[in-house]
Amino acid sequence: DDAMTAQTLRALIRTIPDYPKPGIQFRDITTLIRDPAGFRLAIEMLKPAVARHGVSLIAGIEARGFIFGAALAQELGLGFVPIRKKDKLPGRTVGINYALEYGSDRIEIHADALAAGDRVAIIDDLIATGGTAVAATRLLRSTGAEVPVAAFVVDLPALGGAALLHAESVDVFSLLAFE
Ligand code: PRP
Ligand code: ADE
Repeated sequence: DDAMTAQTLRALIRTIPDYPKPGIQFRDITTLIRDPAGFRLAIEMLKPAVARHGVSLIAGIEARGFIFGAALAQELGLGFVPIRKKDKLPGRTVGINYALEYGSDRIEIHADALAAGDRVAIIDDLIATGGTAVAATRLLRSTGAEVPVAAFVVDLPALGGAALLHAESVDVFSLLAFE
């Protein structure tokens, strides 16, 4: 069941204290994706939560959102749009600046990546303050696309990101939480 699943995934995620800064408990998903059954389980659990929204595209956030987003896109038979950090995409881009738990950055997509009527699911490994996911939602919506859902492997509810994203009228789904 879902509780057992969450426990299985939780046990595969490694916590590294004081990375990248003192006081941050880094939730490292490399140990999860290193495990083939664990990686598959994560994708299988994300699949129905995203599929029920009838999305036409998957957008993954650099870098760890590419791993889960691309696998999920293949599983759903959908295309994948990379949301990249600034100056990484070769074509004409649209972007937005945002604040992080530990710094600030800018994300961009190709200006022609989305077509009118696209319904896009945002995928990332983790939501913390929600700064990245809220920025991604606004960026995708600025092109005219709908963003009905965002899905994550890990939620850090104490940082309030999921609530912030929900306030933007996005259905927020995560596989497990670390308090
Ligand atoms: C991490 C994580 C999310 C974001 C979550 O990425 O993968 O994208 O931070 O934080 P937030 O909810 O407070 O915005 P990071 O910026 O470390 O980039 P990386 O995946 O390229 O290492
Ligand atoms: N991104 C933002 N906060 C994080 C954390 N605590 N662990 C892993 N990735 C993160």
